[in-house]
Amino acid sequence: MKILLAGGAGYIGSHTSAALLESGHDVVVLDNYDNSSPEAIKRVEKLTGKPVSLYEADATDSKAVFDIMNKEKPDCVIHFAGLKAVGESIKQPLRYYRNNIDTTLTLLECMEKTGCKKIVFSSSATVYGEENPAPCNEEMRKGSCTNPYGWTKSMMEQILQDAAVADPRLTVILLRYFNPIGAHPSGQIGENPRGIPNNLMPYITQVAVGKREKLTVFGGDYDTPDGTCLRDYIHIMDLADGHVKAVEFSQNHKGVEIINLGTGQPYSVLDMVNTFQKENNIRVPYEIGPRRGGDLPVVYADAGKAEKLLGWKAKRNLADMCRDSWRWQKNNPNGYDGLEIEK
Ligand code: NAD
Ligand code: UFG
Repeated sequence: MKILLAGGAGYIGSHTSAALLESGHDVVVLDNYDNSSPEAIKRVEKLTGKPVSLYEADATDSKAVFDIMNKEKPDCVIHFAGLKAVGESIKQPLRYYRNNIDTTLTLLECMEKTGCKKIVFSSSATVYGEENPAPCNEEMRKGSCTNPYGWTKSMMEQILQDAAVADPRLTVILLRYFNPIGAHPSGQIGENPRGIPNNLMPYITQVAVGKREKLTVFGGDYDTPDGTCLRDYIHIMDLADGHVKAVEFSQNHKGVEIINLGTGQPYSVLDMVNTFQKENNIRVPYEIGPRRGGDLPVVYADAGKAEKLLGWKAKRNLADMCRDSWRWQKNNPNGYDGLEIEK
């Protein structure tokens, strides 16, 4: 199959590109490099020995997207293109709504015009909101999000579901990711945050490499076994394999499917720090600080539906995630070409 990855040069897109190529699919990437670098795709080509059709384009630019889709005629679109920083979305809600919703509408319109009927969407566990206790399963009603980023995901799910009602030939797979971490085992591609990382693993690796003095653990007084929050961390290579399965599943399926991509196994912030230190034999200085607003104490997946429907199950464990994250950081202390800008 030929797959168009909108936002495909980013963290999840680059690993998914590699996994799709390794599975024998053709890959077309469209990205405006707002939060990524074409270097990631060059490395994917080198790793796999296979070419990617790469386009610098904005997924809100109808003409550019139409031209690419009309030329490439993909069998399926994976929609990764979006802004994803929770804190930034609180400060710049309009930018988040404009970009994230607009990319979704533009892709759907261009799919309609060019006859593409399959779309896989990067959603998030955040749409379960505060109301749904872990483990989250796909039957639960969506909840209230704690920030504009989360609301864009919730709204985009609705838009995609409405589009599928209006066009019964459409297949929509909403993948709800839990916490993707880790990197390709080669250490050649990985997460490349710009500025100060918002997420736990890139912060840990930057402390370990000496770029930051210490980690602040956000809250040590939650009602959890060690007082820190529990999350469902999933290896990026497992997540990438989940996309390959979803794309292949979409071929013989119509309508909407919501599917969690998680492991079903929660770990605490201190589990992460301790495993990282042990596996990599390196110290990560930390202190317990105040809670971060909007954090839920416990979030993890019921991962049963993905196994049943896609035959997919996460295979890598927390030690693999910690080792692979560190290999990427150690080999690339400044990410791709030292591109990060300190904010
Ligand atoms: P990322 O920032 O590395 O990748 C997103 C890519 O989209 C970037 O390459 C960026 O340049 C591109 N992009 C953004 N706006 C664009 C536009 N208008 N036109 C073209 N390209 C555009 O992030 P990621 O971690 O790879 O996440 C991919 C998707 O998965 C995002 O939609 C994100 O919200 C979602 N998601 C991520 C996580 C996570 O923890 N990483 C969790 C849940 C959901
Ligand atoms: N944490 C720290 N210190 C840090 C960073 C994070 O203690 O410097 C803690 C957080 O408080 C949380 C855990 O580490 O308990 C994980 O935090 P992340 O920011 O890595 O991930 P979140 O679970 O907050 O958010 C992730 C994605 C969002 C998505 C959300 C859905 O980043 O995009 O999951 O649950 F919306």
